[in-house]
Amino acid sequence: MDFDKVVRARKSVRKYLDKPVEEEKIAKCLEAARLAPSWKNKQCWRFIVVRDKKIIAKLAGGINFWAKSAPVFIVACGDPKRSGTRYGQKYYLVDVAIAMEHLVLEAANLGLGTCWLGLFDEEKTKKLLEIPKGIRVVALTPLGYPHPSEGILGKVVKAVVGKKRKSLGEIAYDRKWGRPFSGSSKD
Ligand SMILES: Cc1cc2nc3c(=O)[nH]c(=O)nc-3n(C[C@H](O)[C@H](O)[C@H](O)COP(=O)(O)O)c2cc1C
Repeated sequence: MDFDKVVRARKSVRKYLDKPVEEEKIAKCLEAARLAPSWKNKQCWRFIVVRDKKIIAKLAGGINFWAKSAPVFIVACGDPKRSGTRYGQKYYLVDVAIAMEHLVLEAANLGLGTCWLGLFDEEKTKKLLEIPKGIRVVALTPLGYPHPSEGILGKVVKAVVGKKRKSLGEIAYDRKWGRPFSGSSKD
């Protein structure tokens, strides 16, 4: 798919078809993550692929219960010791987030759905997947073929948080803070 189409096709999918994801497609998503940039090229990320429905049901707990309809879960972890800290900012979070977004965009390119999950029980996840002590779980995503209907949770989230994006003028500044980006190099 054309890159612009991929970026626009990606959306949070909260209902999945009961259809397995081909192993080659899972590998392609992981390969996209593997190629991501990182702090001093330390590649502090580790990804766990979960296909066991019982484990998926446990990972998709609380408010994200809907995610158990997915056939696959990807658990994105980071090793803070393998990344850096600068002015109090922890870069393992940045490293893992970039790699995860590579994965998410490749999934969209392959016609697969994902949904970043930030609300999860880290201790429970670590215990379930035998993740070592110093490793942090940064994000989870279900991975699967999107159901044609967005599902009740999809509708609720859309109604509550909305889909609308801020305009370029609101988020991009020209030359200095607060001067809206106009798309022109002239004053
Ligand atoms: C860091 C992060 C954490 C998120 N956590 C959750 C979550 O726990 N549950 C959920 O349903 N969506 C979660 N989302 C998805 C956002 O709600 C979603 O990206 C946003 O509403 C925009 O919708 P879109 O992804 O369809 O464009 C998360 C997104 C990000 C980036």
